[in-house]
Amino acid sequence: MLIEELRRRELPPLFTMNDGRPCTADLWRERRAEILDILQRNIYGYTPPPPEKVTGEVEAEEGERAFAGKVLQQRIRITFDTPKGDFSFPLYLFLPRNIPKPPLFLHIAFRPDIPDRYNPIEEITDNGFGLAFFHYKDVVNDNLHGDYSDGLGKLFIDTGTSKKRPSDQWGKIGMWAYAASRALDYLLTRDDVDGRHIAVVGHSRLGKTALWAAAQDERFFMGISNNSGIGGAAIAKHSTGERVIDFIRAGSWDWFCEKFQEYSGYEDINMPYDQHFVLAAIAPRFICVGSAEKDRGADPKSEFLSCVAASEVYELLGHSGLVTPDEYPTPGTSLHEGRIGYHLRPGHHYFSRTDWLEYMKFMRLKME
Ligand code: GCU
Repeated sequence: MLIEELRRRELPPLFTMNDGRPCTADLWRERRAEILDILQRNIYGYTPPPPEKVTGEVEAEEGERAFAGKVLQQRIRITFDTPKGDFSFPLYLFLPRNIPKPPLFLHIAFRPDIPDRYNPIEEITDNGFGLAFFHYKDVVNDNLHGDYSDGLGKLFIDTGTSKKRPSDQWGKIGMWAYAASRALDYLLTRDDVDGRHIAVVGHSRLGKTALWAAAQDERFFMGISNNSGIGGAAIAKHSTGERVIDFIRAGSWDWFCEKFQEYSGYEDINMPYDQHFVLAAIAPRFICVGSAEKDRGADPKSEFLSCVAASEVYELLGHSGLVTPDEYPTPGTSLHEGRIGYHLRPGHHYFSRTDWLEYMKFMRLKME
């Protein structure tokens, strides 16, 4: 039944190389590079090369009573070079004191608040995980309609008076993802963090970002998408969720590259990509996708189907991707057996405690 559903979606094939050869396990590295290139050219824009130097300086540390004394809490200034000069942003770090080298969630966060409803710090650290987060607007604003006047926008985009970037120049999702990789550069230098087990996580537009970060940067152990929807986990073609035209109307087309706007009629356009490409680029690493039943814009069925479609790659590489019965899940379902985890919870678009509990459970299961 699910295979039928996928066929109906008319997805571009994962396993046809650009020159027409069928992709085999041996060719997968090459195909992955092609897939990343297709995604950069058509949806997220090209990511600049990594900086030469990244540093982290502890700017502030809470006293020993932080979180009842259970947590080392620091604010770190991450600084790196760009072609137009240095850029820096704050990274907030929370490490449970009773675990010498905890695995960690790097959360690309909507707000810098501590506490914050999307960021249950104490619960995460009580569960034996470290947490690092940065506030996405410290990297570039989210004013919509193409405002690149601050942060990485100002350093990398020169739109002159036209307000239009070259068609494949990166957008804000690319910039936020780039910052996640710079945070990771720093976290990997710390000997009090388990660098082999760092998951990048985000909700909604920042779930799109977390997946794109994990797709590009193989040092991430896992990519976690909470309600990321269209432009994130969800297959776009024949979906019932948001459409490219909605992003254009809302002004959030600037999260993507300009080329993305050309796909506004995607029912009749043969897109060279769809979102299962993003998940596939994470393989054979781990992925966890969380959907909410009432999240119509994100289209849970399309988020789920994308996990099914990407599982092909895991199988090619000798692993299981999403392990699921041959039917759409019902609310309350959690599928954690393979390398792709998925859950569908009741309720609305939100980064809920239920979701965090699922991600912690999946992470614990998958760390050897
Ligand atoms: C809007 C947007 C979505 C996005 C969401 C969010 O609804 O259209 O694509 O995921 O905002 O980030 O909260």
